[in-house]
Amino acid sequence: MATVNTDTTGILSEEGRDKREEIIELLKKAYWMEIETVMSYIANSVNPDGVRAQEIKESLEQDITEELGHAQQFAQRIKELYGVVPGSEEFAAEQSYLQPPEHQTDVVHIVRGVIEAETGAIEHYTRIVEVTDQVDPVTQDMVIDILHDEQGHRRLFEGFLREYEAEGLA
Ligand SMILES: [Fe+2]
Ligand SMILES: [Fe+2]
Repeated sequence: MATVNTDTTGILSEEGRDKREEIIELLKKAYWMEIETVMSYIANSVNPDGVRAQEIKESLEQDITEELGHAQQFAQRIKELYGVVPGSEEFAAEQSYLQPPEHQTDVVHIVRGVIEAETGAIEHYTRIVEVTDQVDPVTQDMVIDILHDEQGHRRLFEGFLREYEAEGLA
């Protein structure tokens, strides 16, 4: 039995190397996006004050587990594609819009920040779905499921924002 990969075609073959490396880079970015989202959602599930903040905090608390699960899925797929999951020193923060607001009762700031984070994820994952089309159906299938989760997250927070807008708070 062969102990090394002897595929001659497909994403795991020697011929598939360039495409595979392109996909691994996209998966690393996705991994970091999930990790940063976990950090931002932890902070924003704890910091806010007030009655209106309660629903947001509980919702973000649930999302933390889901986003962490996404990060683990991206990491696993990086390895399966013969990549290496990056170390923490390669991390660079990008979510300026999800920093704690000046006032901890400013729930609208958080809701808008979450919508922006989810939109960023949706755009990046849509790109992965396109790049993997016809060449890496396994990664594509995984990312479609994650993309579905992010669309659900964004829709929920769009609903929160609509309510605040209707009440003249946003
Ligand atoms: Fe996620
Ligand atoms: Fe999400």
